[in-house]
Amino acid sequence: MSTFPAFIDLKKLTEKQILRLFSLAQQIEKTDQMEELKVAPVALLFFEPSTRTRFSFEMSCGRLGLRSILLSGKAGTSLEKGETLEDTILNIAAMKPSLIVTRADDELAMPAIASTLRIPWINAGWGKRGHPTQALLDALTMQKFLGRLHDKKVLFIGDVRHSRVVASHLELSRILNYQVGVCGPSEFLFSHRTEENAHAKIFKTREEGLKWADVVVALRVQNERHEKQHQLNQYNSEWGLNEKSLTALAAQSLILHPGPINQGVEMTSQALKDSRCHVLEQVTQGVFLRQALIKTLLQEPGDLS
Ligand code: CP
Repeated sequence: MSTFPAFIDLKKLTEKQILRLFSLAQQIEKTDQMEELKVAPVALLFFEPSTRTRFSFEMSCGRLGLRSILLSGKAGTSLEKGETLEDTILNIAAMKPSLIVTRADDELAMPAIASTLRIPWINAGWGKRGHPTQALLDALTMQKFLGRLHDKKVLFIGDVRHSRVVASHLELSRILNYQVGVCGPSEFLFSHRTEENAHAKIFKTREEGLKWADVVVALRVQNERHEKQHQLNQYNSEWGLNEKSLTALAAQSLILHPGPINQGVEMTSQALKDSRCHVLEQVTQGVFLRQALIKTLLQEPGDLS
């Protein structure tokens, strides 16, 4: 079994480890730090679509002087000939990349495969199960604008049930001690209460949630993960962020969205232009956060285990 760090969820991390990662990301931002790490290329295995995360990992690798080699989707690979995802990963791992980064659906046995490899591994989005680097970059952005996260109130609005971002925030909020609230159409909320989501407050209306929140994170309606397709023409007026609904949010609060955005559904173009909206800053912070994470996993893996 491997002792190499597998960054698949956040459960075992401590506040100290995460704050150290944030501090490194802040230092990278401040000094615009580039490096020339002399290690093997990084394997980026994106079996599901991505723009931000994929490009962000490529940018982070580039800033560290690391070559990244990308497998994007099934087209043109032996997956089209019936090879399994696991065999694909094991064959790429056999070529000895310095790091494996994967985006995949819920079916991939990510921890089990990672545990057989002597290569660090980062989860870059795993079905509905988790998206740890997204939660971390959200928290880094919140820290940048709010100063500290302790006791802050973070509202997730929309498709909570299918959100790997919420799944990772449920873990991270327990470590960094921020409060989590959710609201949205009943069929988008938790199907049942679990140990993982027990600490999340549920609001009946968007306005109640917005009045409570220091940060609102709008979530994409993930129609591709729904059994029944939802009509979205009324969604924004009831659950979306728009000029009118945002009057319920305090002047110093933040508006975030992990992206991609269905414009006019979870957020209108006016909501995106609101001075409290920091959606593109999340993307910027993502590069620094991932640069800090890759550097730590490759140079100081003990800091995260
Ligand atoms: N936030 C996020 O994961 O976006 P992508 O799907 O574009 O990577």
